[in-house]
Amino acid sequence: MSWEEKVRRVTPYVAGEQPKDKTVIKLNTNECPYPPSPGVSVAARMLSEESERLRLYPDMDCTLLVEELARAYGVDPEQVFVGVGSDDVLALAFLTYFTSGRKILFPDITYSFYDVWADLFRIPYEKVPLREDFSIDPENYLPGSGSFPLTEEPGGIIFANPNAPTGLAMPVPAIDRIAAANPGCVVIVDEAYVDFGAQSAISLLPQYDNLLIVQTFSKSRAMAGMRIGFAIGSMKLIRYLKDVKFSFNSYTMNLPSIVLGREAVRDEDYFRSITGRIVATREQFKKDLLEMGFVFPDSSTNFVFARHPGMPAKELFAKLREKKIIVRHFDKPRISEYLRITIGTEEQMAKVTEALHEILGR
Ligand SMILES: Cc1ncc(COP(=O)(O)O)c(C=O)c1O
Repeated sequence: MSWEEKVRRVTPYVAGEQPKDKTVIKLNTNECPYPPSPGVSVAARMLSEESERLRLYPDMDCTLLVEELARAYGVDPEQVFVGVGSDDVLALAFLTYFTSGRKILFPDITYSFYDVWADLFRIPYEKVPLREDFSIDPENYLPGSGSFPLTEEPGGIIFANPNAPTGLAMPVPAIDRIAAANPGCVVIVDEAYVDFGAQSAISLLPQYDNLLIVQTFSKSRAMAGMRIGFAIGSMKLIRYLKDVKFSFNSYTMNLPSIVLGREAVRDEDYFRSITGRIVATREQFKKDLLEMGFVFPDSSTNFVFARHPGMPAKELFAKLREKKIIVRHFDKPRISEYLRITIGTEEQMAKVTEALHEILGR
């Protein structure tokens, strides 16, 4: 056997590009177009004056941040887990909860990291097709229903709500049905985009000790560069997640992440003002897209997933790029005719609309 046959070989996740040219309008990775809350800048300045604190290892329980999140979401601190972006939290959740050898379920069109982690950790999975209109059919996740895709209990369930890249949200009662029908496995709801108008399933947590809600600071809290994500679930679920994390690397959350993250959670007014502004811009952009003949599922996120019947998505993508507007195109089955366009500032979206008018010749 060669050494190469003993190597873990995987096909990695392909992240959206981070262009060096800062003059482009960057609408390809769903970042927030506004800065983090003013309290974050103040705390960052204070930290830079106290660099001597960096001598010590950070608090591996991230107490300041965990307690602030627990307060904000009305849960016990022992129900909160924080990680280096929700990618870190989700990867550890796959590693911790999906160990039965049974297939886990997730939609065929969703965050494309799910199958990468499943492959990395050798977790078998079944991709469940979304409906024609890209919505999730909850019946597909109810063992015993006619449209359940497996012949045995699943090893776990994960879906994004709202889903990405479609932008569509599922109502909480549907999630309730899925959680109620699957007491034998962990159900993860990835709520990366929930703050832009969808309803969080955190309200279901008192009923289900196998339900994990994962959120991020990268979108609605304008801190993608800081890398902070978190999960909320039952104390038991969080304990298992921590045990795995502390068996891997205890100190992944650095001091600035803990301190600045806490400031971002504290400033609820600012959080509401930027998410409200993005939602208003999105609604105006939807109107502009409809006027130009675009077709799209109704987005509850900070992006719109749209196609134009008059021009292939690849061509539209290239023409926008010529105009220094970068959006995201996924060359994948069912969605290759769509572009995912992040909602930027009002001015940026007006420029996008103008560029689309020019490209489409009207
Ligand atoms: C659905 C979904 N989940 C999770 C993430 C990961 O976000 P982060 O690791 O920045 O918290 C993303 C990022 O785009 C996403 O779209």
